[in-house]
Amino acid sequence: MQPKSARREEVLDRLEEKGGLRPGVARQVHLETGVPEADVYGVGTFYHLLARPDAGVAVCQGLSCRLAGCDRVKAELEAAGTIATYTSCLGRCDFAPATWDPAAEVSEASELQAAISPSGSGLAINLAATDNKRYAALATLAERGAEWALDELETSGITGRGGAGFPAHIKWRGVRGQTERERYIVLNADEGEPGTFKDREIMLRRPHLVIEGLAVAAACLEAKDIYIYVRGEFGSFRASLESALAEARDRLDPAVEWHFVNGHGAYICGEETALLEALEGKRGMPRMKPPFPVEFGFRGKPTLIQNVETIACVPAILERGGEWFRGLGRTEPGTKLYCLSGHVERPGVYEAPMGVSFGELLDMAGGVVGTLKAFSPGGASSGFLPADRIDVAMDFKSLQEAGSMLGSAGIVVLNDTVDMVEAALIQAVFFEDESCGQCAPCRIGTQIVRQALERYQASRDAASLRDLDEVSWGMGEASICGLGQAASLPLTSAMKYFPSEFGL
Ligand SMILES: Cc1cc2nc3c(=O)[nH]c(=O)nc-3n(C[C@H](O)[C@H](O)[C@H](O)COP(=O)(O)O)c2cc1C
Ligand code: SF4
Repeated sequence: MQPKSARREEVLDRLEEKGGLRPGVARQVHLETGVPEADVYGVGTFYHLLARPDAGVAVCQGLSCRLAGCDRVKAELEAAGTIATYTSCLGRCDFAPATWDPAAEVSEASELQAAISPSGSGLAINLAATDNKRYAALATLAERGAEWALDELETSGITGRGGAGFPAHIKWRGVRGQTERERYIVLNADEGEPGTFKDREIMLRRPHLVIEGLAVAAACLEAKDIYIYVRGEFGSFRASLESALAEARDRLDPAVEWHFVNGHGAYICGEETALLEALEGKRGMPRMKPPFPVEFGFRGKPTLIQNVETIACVPAILERGGEWFRGLGRTEPGTKLYCLSGHVERPGVYEAPMGVSFGELLDMAGGVVGTLKAFSPGGASSGFLPADRIDVAMDFKSLQEAGSMLGSAGIVVLNDTVDMVEAALIQAVFFEDESCGQCAPCRIGTQIVRQALERYQASRDAASLRDLDEVSWGMGEASICGLGQAASLPLTSAMKYFPSEFGL
């Protein structure tokens, strides 16, 4: 039983400070925080970066990195005497095959020169522009008030860029309308969906947009604490945000406290309620919803959780107006950052109107390497679409109608050298590894899907894939969170569009 005085929220930081779960560390953290030792151990084992302190160099085995030959990279590292371990995703799909050395001191951010869209005045984020340090939106907010800002957000039509596409103004009003005065703003910078690396580039190139957007949110919702949760492998991108915050200090409300918190290598902590659990020092297991975080969030208090890209759009919306933002999109409001990787000439982050076609994005990225066979439009969870859907509008509604999803807009391009069974298997491995294990349909279903694909790959006997429809149905209907609900989509979509490869 945990004593009331136990400082649970410190557990993950202390485990990190001590280099992860090495012998004796759980006991030490127990003595320092009062959280039972078994509990400290249980929490630590949940997070890859804490549970495996001697894992050495992380080698990404996400889809883009597999296509680019991560096996070869791992073998070369090992041949050179380096300890190397596969990891689910490093958020560097444009530099596939990607590796990350947790022990390296160098500032990696300055070495990664991602391809981005050229500067343009019709872009809400505009990665190539000089970062905006004027904080003009914050100044106007002080004159015109929170209701004006919320009206502009509503007019802009901006929906969440983290994957779910929920209207931002509803969440902002939801928190503002609570009677509880203790409120929190949380920035979700956990970016872990394979194929996605846009938030990384925003933090690096336009950190002041993020700081200003968060300051606006805190002022509108009268929150006194802002938590910035950055994935653990993004240390140098976190540093970029930290220095922007230091530069901007004299423009910001001194009554608001800013907190940076590291993720520890668990993809599921990008799910908003799992993230809240992680902030509270627990295993990152999604909560049942409702209640939603706007009502019952961090420490049980009203909390606004927003993706980096969503927040970074806020200053432009307030400066140039909600109508301007809405008008930027073709089929849905605004512009959007699309990440392209895989078999494409210039992998990178491209900003385009919402509803741009996949084909146009391919052109922006220099075209396909080889002949297009399929693409995964919105991260691992979005499944695959065949080449003949090249004209699909890349927005939330059109992709949903196409049986896929825009998600985080992490597009992976596959040419005709790719075996779709292998592609589906890569995604199945990802979901099995990253399932938090809390609910049976997801925990067992992800395992069944992976095993069936492996059996089929070995035997090419379609009987190995029998019953997967039912398993997928169970996962979709009965899983607690989006991971389990979408985890079978890569398989079912590959079977639907490429039946001959599955012996159908
Ligand atoms: C399995 C899973 C992983 C997620 N990962 C992320 C993530 O890495 N970053 C993110 O912003 N949202 C992620 N989300 C979506 C969040 O739950 C949440 O919708 C989002 O942070 C809200 O911000 P937004 O409205 O600005 O998109 C994930 C959702 C699920 C189900
Ligand atoms: S669906 Fe999967 S990841 Fe989500 S809560 Fe259930 S077991 Fe955890």
